[in-house]
Amino acid sequence: MASVTSLTASVEQQLKDALAAALPAAGDADPLLRRSDRADFQANGVLALAKKAKANPRELATQVVAALPDSTVIKDVEVSGPGFLNITVPDEAILRNLAARAAAGERLGVPYAEHPGRTVIDYAQPNVAKEMHVGHLRSAVIGDAVMRMLEFTGETVIRRHHIGDWGTQFGMLIQYLMEHPAELDRSSDSSEVSQAAGEAAMSNLNRVYKASKALFDEDEGFKDRARRRVVDLQAGDEETLAFWHRFVDESKVYFNALFGKLDMDIRDADIVGESGYNDMLAETCDLLEQSGVAVRSEGALCVFFDDVKGPDGKPVPLIVRKSNGGFGYAATDLSAIRNRVFDLKADTLLYVVDARQALHFKMVFETAKRAGWLSEDVRAVQLAFGTVLGADGKPFKTRAGESVRLVDLLDEAVTRATAVVREKDAKGRLSEDEIAERGAQVGIGAVKYADLSTSASRDYKFDLDQMVSLNGDTSVYIQYAYARIQSILRRATDSGAPAPAAHPELPLAPAERALGLHLDAFGDQVLEATHEYAPHKLAAYLYQTASLYTTFYDQCHVLSDDNAPEVVANRLFLCELTGKTLAAGLGLLGIRAPKSL
Ligand code: ARG
Repeated sequence: MASVTSLTASVEQQLKDALAAALPAAGDADPLLRRSDRADFQANGVLALAKKAKANPRELATQVVAALPDSTVIKDVEVSGPGFLNITVPDEAILRNLAARAAAGERLGVPYAEHPGRTVIDYAQPNVAKEMHVGHLRSAVIGDAVMRMLEFTGETVIRRHHIGDWGTQFGMLIQYLMEHPAELDRSSDSSEVSQAAGEAAMSNLNRVYKASKALFDEDEGFKDRARRRVVDLQAGDEETLAFWHRFVDESKVYFNALFGKLDMDIRDADIVGESGYNDMLAETCDLLEQSGVAVRSEGALCVFFDDVKGPDGKPVPLIVRKSNGGFGYAATDLSAIRNRVFDLKADTLLYVVDARQALHFKMVFETAKRAGWLSEDVRAVQLAFGTVLGADGKPFKTRAGESVRLVDLLDEAVTRATAVVREKDAKGRLSEDEIAERGAQVGIGAVKYADLSTSASRDYKFDLDQMVSLNGDTSVYIQYAYARIQSILRRATDSGAPAPAAHPELPLAPAERALGLHLDAFGDQVLEATHEYAPHKLAAYLYQTASLYTTFYDQCHVLSDDNAPEVVANRLFLCELTGKTLAAGLGLLGIRAPKSL
C-alpha cells in the first residue's frame, strides 16, 4: 500500500496545501488552482470565498498572501484582477520533484488512492455463436483501460466477462447440432489460439447458425424440438449441456483469437457468462417476490417504476420472469448483482456497456436497491458508451449496409500502420518481423486510442486515415514522440554524453518549465481520470505531454556542443522522464510503446 517513498506530492498539491494553510477558515473549499499563462498557476478560489463572507476579494486575497506559510514551491505570489492569485514556482522546486519521481521506480512516485476499494468490472462481453462487432470493441477497449487504471491506483479489481451464452436461441442451435453432429467437428485443436483457428471457428458457427435458423423457420417439427431443447438445457440435462459446451468452446476459440489480436489478456476464469447464474435465477425471483419488490402481472413477475412509462403512458415494467416461466436478461443481471455483492464482496459494480442499455441498467439497479442488495456502501455504475460511427457520421456499416466485421477492421488498421512504420524506417534498419510487430502495436494502439481519446459517452467516428496519422491527437504521434526520445537517449550513450541527471541548481527555459510542471502532474491526472472512469482525460494528458515535449525539443537543444555538461545531463533527464511517463500512461491505456517506429 501507499508507502512513503513512492509518495511524491506534486508541486500543485503542495501549493494547494499551502493555500489551505493560509486560509483555515475556508475549510476544504477548492482554491481553484489552475495552470496559467501569466504565472505558473492561478488560484481563483478567493473570489467565491469573499462572496460568501461578504468581504472585499482583493483584500481577502492580500490577506491570504500575507498568511501563506514559507514554502519551497512558492517563488512569487501576486494579487491580480478582482482577486486572483498568480503564483510562480521556483525552477529548483520543479526539478527536485521530478528527480524524486524518477527515483521512485516504475510508479514514478504516484501515490495510491487514499481509500482503495473492491470493484467488479463487467466488460468485454461478446455473445456465443455470434460475430463480434464494434460495440464489443468499445466495451473491451474502455474496460481494459479502466481496469488497468483502477489497479494502478491500488483498487482490488475482479474482472467479469458477462458473455451471452444462454437463452432460447441455444435450443435451436443445440437441437440442430444433435441432428447434424458432424457440423462443428474441428480439424484443428480448439485450445490453439491463432488467427486461423479463430476464423475457422467463426465460420463454422455462422454456418450452423444459418442452417439451424432456416430449419427453424420452415420446419414446424424442428421448431417444436428446438423449444423442448431449451427446457432440457435450463433443467441441466447432461447430453444437452454437452452440446451447448461445444458452442461455448468454439466461440471461445474465436474470442481468444480476437482478444489476442487486440493485445488483451482475457483470462478463462474471468469469463462468467449469463449461464453462470442459472442456478440463482429461481431464488432471485423468490426473494424479489417475497419482499414485495416484484409483483405478478399478467402471469409475469414484474417490477414497476413511477418514472418508466411507454409511449402510451402505461408503466413499462422490468420483467424478471416471463409468463411462460422463462427467465431473461434482467433475472440474470439481478442474480449477478447478488453474486458480486455477497460472494465476491465488491463495493463497486462497474458495467462497461453500450448507452442503449441504460434503461435496462437503471431498472436493474433500482430493483437491486429496493431489495437491499445495493446500498450506500455498495454502488453500481454503468460506464455507458456511445455508438461507433463511420467516417460519414452514420452508424458504422459496410457499403452493402452490413455491420463491419471486427477482424477486418483490425486487420485494415494494422495494414495501414505497417505502411507508416515501413515509411518511417527509410534507412531499412528494421527486419520484416520487426516491421510486422511494430505495425501491429501501432495499428492496434491507434484503434484503442481513437476509442479512448473521446469521452466514452459520446459517439465517435471510426476513421482509419485519421487514426494512424502521425499528426494530431493520435497514439501514433505519442508513440513517435516516445520512439524519438529513445533514439536521443541511444545517441547520447553512443556519443559519450553525460548520463541523464537532474540539476536543480540550473535555471529552466520556458519550454522546460512547461514540460516539467506537466510531467509532475502525471499522478494527479491519473488519479482524477481513474476516479471519474475517464480514460479520455489520461489520453489528453499524454497527447499534451508529447506536444510539450515537441516544443521543448525544438526550443532547447539537448545534445549540443554549446551546452555545459550539466545542461546536457539535465535535458537528457527531462527526455528520459518524459519517455517513462509516456510509456507508463500508454501502458495504462493498454497501448504499447515500441522503442523505435
Ligand atoms: N452480451 C451483452 C451484449 O452483447 C452485453 C452484456 C453486458 N453485461 C451485463 N451484465 N448485462 O449486448
